[in-house]
Amino acid sequence: MPALKISDLHVSFGSTEILRGISLDVEPGETLGVLGESGCGKSLTGLAAMRLLPPGGTITQGTIELQGKQLTKISESQMRRIRGGEIAMVFQDPFTCLNPMMRIGDQIAEAIDLHQRVGSKRAKTKAIEQLESVRVPAPESAARKFPHQLSGGQRQRVMIAMAFSCHPKVLIADEPTTALDVTLQAQILALLKELQSQEGTAVILISHDVGVIAGVADRIAVFYAGKVIETGSAGQIIKSPAHPYTQGLLASMPGESAKLYSIPGQPPRFTELPIGCSFAPRCKFQFEKCELEPGLIAANNTLAACWLQEGTNA
Ligand SMILES: Nc1ncnc2c1ncn2[C@@H]1O[C@H](COP(=O)(O)OP(=O)(O)OP(=O)(O)O)[C@@H](O)[C@H]1O
Ligand SMILES: [Mg+2]
Repeated sequence: MPALKISDLHVSFGSTEILRGISLDVEPGETLGVLGESGCGKSLTGLAAMRLLPPGGTITQGTIELQGKQLTKISESQMRRIRGGEIAMVFQDPFTCLNPMMRIGDQIAEAIDLHQRVGSKRAKTKAIEQLESVRVPAPESAARKFPHQLSGGQRQRVMIAMAFSCHPKVLIADEPTTALDVTLQAQILALLKELQSQEGTAVILISHDVGVIAGVADRIAVFYAGKVIETGSAGQIIKSPAHPYTQGLLASMPGESAKLYSIPGQPPRFTELPIGCSFAPRCKFQFEKCELEPGLIAANNTLAACWLQEGTNA
């Protein structure tokens, strides 16, 4: 059974639909990479799974199952026990998770006591162990510090310590390393991997950075304009992407070729979505059929929402 399974999720702000039928799932111990340009709905998907949509955002359709539990149906007070316990999220900006006014050790201890009811003294010891496990130097003195007294990389470690402190079954990491330089980024991703394999956590790693996703993900879901437009194993998506959008994303990744490709044009506004395939206006392969919206079609090695795939696997 997947640790988290999202099916046909629709999210709207007022009359504007942003998530237009997202389906994805992630198994225990597995990393699902969520890839796509800015504004395609990656963060909203994570926030919806945490039931933390910004004001005005509503789930209008679909289901979110956490180990078989329907998160769309439960009350906010039930959700509060699950959030930070069974499902946790880390963000690009540590201050979204960390309280700037509270000592680090106290914050982690508070989360541990809230979800595990071990008592405040035991929680404090566990908080220090947790800081040790993410290799924050001098964990006891770090525990007495406030978030702003740590370096960016250390803060990111603290945030990860906090996220793992309650042994979540599912961790959603939303651009966890985007603000860091490349060396720190690699260290933090390695740390995430290490904790994940110790704990068997299902991880959804959200990033616009193909390199980050390629390095860490087992499977990939490529988002475009509020939909999953291609999905498959990370190896296949990177080696032989079927959707012209995925091909464009990969070609725009810095690498061997000196000249960097960039996909022409911009993603459509959600208030002015084209009829049919939402990528068609930017697609060099566009043909008549693209006026109809394609669902996911079996390509050679992946599933892709593109009419070009019709018949390739017949
Ligand atoms: N609070 C909000 N009110 C109205 N619309 C919103 C709100 N938050 C997000 N949106 C809409 O949802 C779209 C998707 O937002 P989301 O934050 O999920 O994008 P993203 O894929 O995470 O992008 P990025 O890579 O920039 O983080 C935005 O382009 C915007 O149109
Ligand atoms: Mg985002």
